[in-house]
Amino acid sequence: MSPSTRPIPIVACLAGDGIGPEVMAEAGRVIDAASQLFGIRVRQVHLPFGGDAIDKHGDPFPSHVRAAVKASDAVLLGAVGGPRWDGSPVRPEAGLLGLRKELDTYANLRPVRHGAIDLMVVRELTGGLYFGTKTLEQDVASDECRYTRDQIERVARWGFRLARRRGGRVVSVDKANVLSTSKLWRRVVTELQASEFEEIRLTHELVDSFAMNLATRPQDYDVVLTENLFGDILSDLAAAVGGGLGLAPSASLGSEPPGIFEPVHGSAPDIAGQGEANPIAMILSVGLMFTYGLARRDIGRTIAAAVDQVLAEGTATADQVSGGRAYATWEVGQAVCRALADHAHGSGEFAADPYGEAVARG
Ligand SMILES: NC(=O)c1ccc[n+]([C@@H]2O[C@H](COP(=O)([O-])OP(=O)(O)OC[C@H]3O[C@@H](n4cnc5c(N)ncnc54)[C@H](O)[C@@H]3O)[C@@H](O)[C@H]2O)c1
Repeated sequence: MSPSTRPIPIVACLAGDGIGPEVMAEAGRVIDAASQLFGIRVRQVHLPFGGDAIDKHGDPFPSHVRAAVKASDAVLLGAVGGPRWDGSPVRPEAGLLGLRKELDTYANLRPVRHGAIDLMVVRELTGGLYFGTKTLEQDVASDECRYTRDQIERVARWGFRLARRRGGRVVSVDKANVLSTSKLWRRVVTELQASEFEEIRLTHELVDSFAMNLATRPQDYDVVLTENLFGDILSDLAAAVGGGLGLAPSASLGSEPPGIFEPVHGSAPDIAGQGEANPIAMILSVGLMFTYGLARRDIGRTIAAAVDQVLAEGTATADQVSGGRAYATWEVGQAVCRALADHAHGSGEFAADPYGEAVARG
């Protein structure tokens, strides 16, 4: 095995609050174990974020953390928030919004692999109802829904490029029978497929009937491409059919690194400090980081295979077991590290253009 010839990638680790530090500890162990097996080096830089950063610096996303994050190759995030900061003038969640804005991440990837299900929800993050002009009066309120061609094109490009490396199919989900933004969405996605991604099979579905299909036959889908609000709802539904919060990882990507890799779940204050949090969503987020953030698909795949093995063997935390023994957070993390060795093959360097490499053909 040869060590990386690219400068050692820097991973900014923002553990955050509640179970964040507990699952981040297992992420760190998995990075170390994978690094050893593949003969690479990865530098993990731990930084305060969210409520933890409010306590230490009075700011959920302090300027020195902002600078370190921007200088990193990838950001690993645990979770933020909790009742402790309920009365705080600035809330931990404000750090999340600041981080996403700072890195201009516009494509949210939520893979679901569970039994026969193997799909990827790609959600647009910067447009639509959440960001339009808002009004609120005594008896009337409004939220503007706005999308530009550019916003649609750039996220759709991620969807199509991902489909190239997967099953070659994209379903674009909209409400084009009613909404103007959806009519534009459908037109732009259709044009992009025709001009750049002829080999990808594109279909369109309306969000209402798609939700029903996702709940009843999720195994039929490959890449699901959709706008912000629909994606928010559908990606949670996809996580539910895929085994629940404890297993759901995510990646938020912009046009260039660093991307943000984090479990879908929050800080789970109800179980924090008890050593029983499920670390799998966080560990699978590390897998996404290797695949998409550092263009080491081989390592990402190895981590996913190790997780599959550990779950198949029944080494799982309380949220995943019914009746059998519930394992501690660290025991599951340790089991994944051990299982890595059964699946790790080869070595290699880090790519100079991680995002290009991560979705390249072949
Ligand atoms: N990205 C983030 O950092 C993020 C996301 C969602 C919520 N939050 C914050 O987290 C706090 C709690 O929110 P919530 O309770 O609505 O959602 P949550 O995801 O923290 O918890 C929901 C339920 O799922 C369980 N759960 C979550 N993750 C788990 C894990 N890894 N292993 C085992 N069980 C797990 C919890 O114990 C809880 O019963 C709030 O302050 C919220 O604002 C943060």
